[in-house]
Amino acid sequence: MKANTDLLIQEAKKNAALQAIKHVKDNFIVGLGSGTTVAFAIEALGKRVKEEKLRVMGIPSSYQAFQLAIQQGIQITTLDEHPIIDITIDGADQITPKLDLIKGMGAALVREKIVATASKYNIIIVDKSKRVNVLGENNQAVPIEVLPFALSLVKNKIADLGGNPVVREGKGKLGPIITDNGNMIIDANFGLIQNPQDLAIKVKNIPGVVETGFFVDLTNIAYIATENRVEQLQK
Ligand code: A5P
Repeated sequence: MKANTDLLIQEAKKNAALQAIKHVKDNFIVGLGSGTTVAFAIEALGKRVKEEKLRVMGIPSSYQAFQLAIQQGIQITTLDEHPIIDITIDGADQITPKLDLIKGMGAALVREKIVATASKYNIIIVDKSKRVNVLGENNQAVPIEVLPFALSLVKNKIADLGGNPVVREGKGKLGPIITDNGNMIIDANFGLIQNPQDLAIKVKNIPGVVETGFFVDLTNIAYIATENRVEQLQK
């Protein structure tokens, strides 16, 4: 039964990814997000590059996305060469009806936010388990990337703001995880977050915080995969 549900979810993610890839046109610069759902999109984009001779260049938001793109034969470029991205496709850890997001469970939030901010159009692809009414539901913590030197200070300040800060531990590595940028991640549980914009500013203002996992007012369209269809959510 569980295996069957897992299979349906994988299929659903793939369907959402296929919808997103339809937005990509010839000569586009494409921001490549991170995570298991985006992996399907990168694969589908690679297929279009091979089969349709589509000319695109990708800007990956993580080593994971970089490696997947290379494997799929997608040409890579940089923000220095192409500071304006046509379209970015990314996943999310939570999404509200207003298209506000929590991101960063894959620890790629800093580059994901840079790529999203440089992008003219942002597409989010998720399965229905990510859909919530209010950010912070189901005990979802907010990932925050922190300069290691400032870890203790940031933990204290986050606790003052009502968050429960936990330094994320590595899997397959002892001690804290280190991000692609050489920093650490604090997962902060604030409970239900009614005003993510306001809290994002307060957290970002703490010296040593590199970036927060709040993505507010950045998303143009979301494709949400359920077992039997892909729902579209637009502002
Ligand atoms: C990466 O840091 C996150 O922002 C991802 O976008 C998020 O974890 C989505 O991953 P899945 O598609 O694997 O759920």
